[in-house]
Amino acid sequence: MKIGILGSGNVAQTIGEKLLSLGHEVMVSSRDMRKEKTMWGDKKLPSAADWVRMMRDNGFKASGGSFSEAARFGETILNCTSGLATLEVIDGAGRDNFKGKVLVDIANPLDFSKGSPPSVAFCGEESLGERVQKALPDAKVVKTLNTVNAMVMVDPSLVKGDHDMFVAGNDAGSREWVSETLLKKWFGWKSVVDLGDLTAARATESYLPLWLKVMNATGTPHFNLKIVR
Ligand SMILES: NC(=O)c1ccc[n+]([C@@H]2O[C@H](COP(=O)([O-])OP(=O)(O)OC[C@H]3O[C@@H](n4cnc5c(N)ncnc54)[C@H](OP(=O)(O)O)[C@@H]3O)[C@@H](O)[C@H]2O)c1
Repeated sequence: MKIGILGSGNVAQTIGEKLLSLGHEVMVSSRDMRKEKTMWGDKKLPSAADWVRMMRDNGFKASGGSFSEAARFGETILNCTSGLATLEVIDGAGRDNFKGKVLVDIANPLDFSKGSPPSVAFCGEESLGERVQKALPDAKVVKTLNTVNAMVMVDPSLVKGDHDMFVAGNDAGSREWVSETLLKKWFGWKSVVDLGDLTAARATESYLPLWLKVMNATGTPHFNLKIVR
């Protein structure tokens, strides 16, 4: 499948490599393909252009472009942009490029303006996922993967034992495709909890402060939630 990724940072590169290794065609996107990236914690990441070159050298079908090129390219699109920039990115990417497509929204609306730890910029009565769906009424937005670290997204076995991933979205068929194909078949998730429509994104996007506290307490980003019934 052709997959367009909005963004080319830590999440985009991690998920992109996994999808490429499964034989998919992936286009990442950036404001500046040549700029070296810095992850949270000052770790360096390759520029989008260098990452594409490394993936192609491995024999993978990787490419890079603008946000609108990636949206046009993708039969499915993944939003891996900074949450506070997402609406601007989508606006610039061209609404028609999302028409009828599943848009997997992984972003969290985090505000780093006061340094670290970030705060959740808005929550409660509206989520980023809902704002994205409102901006793109012809796309099928599914919120998922935003509650775990990037490496756990594509390798849930990094967390020992049973644990759960959430999906939320207004279109039941798209939630099912994301659950059964993207999450279970491609990424190896064993348990997916379907939270229903996109109002659930208000809850999953608000989880970050607790995620940070747990990471500090346990000393690892490789953990997750298990819903015990
Ligand atoms: N990292 C994780 O483990 C993790 C886990 C769960 C959820 N998330 C969420 O996933 C998203 C991506 O995270 P990440 O760690 O990959 O972030 P990142 O490395 O900082 O990458 C952010 C991406 O957003 C793009 N972007 C576009 N416009 C921007 C603007 N005005 N300001 C800043 N960035 C802009 C950047 O594009 P350029 O290439 O042009 O810089 C970059 O590709 C975020 O919403 C984050 O909250 C991350």
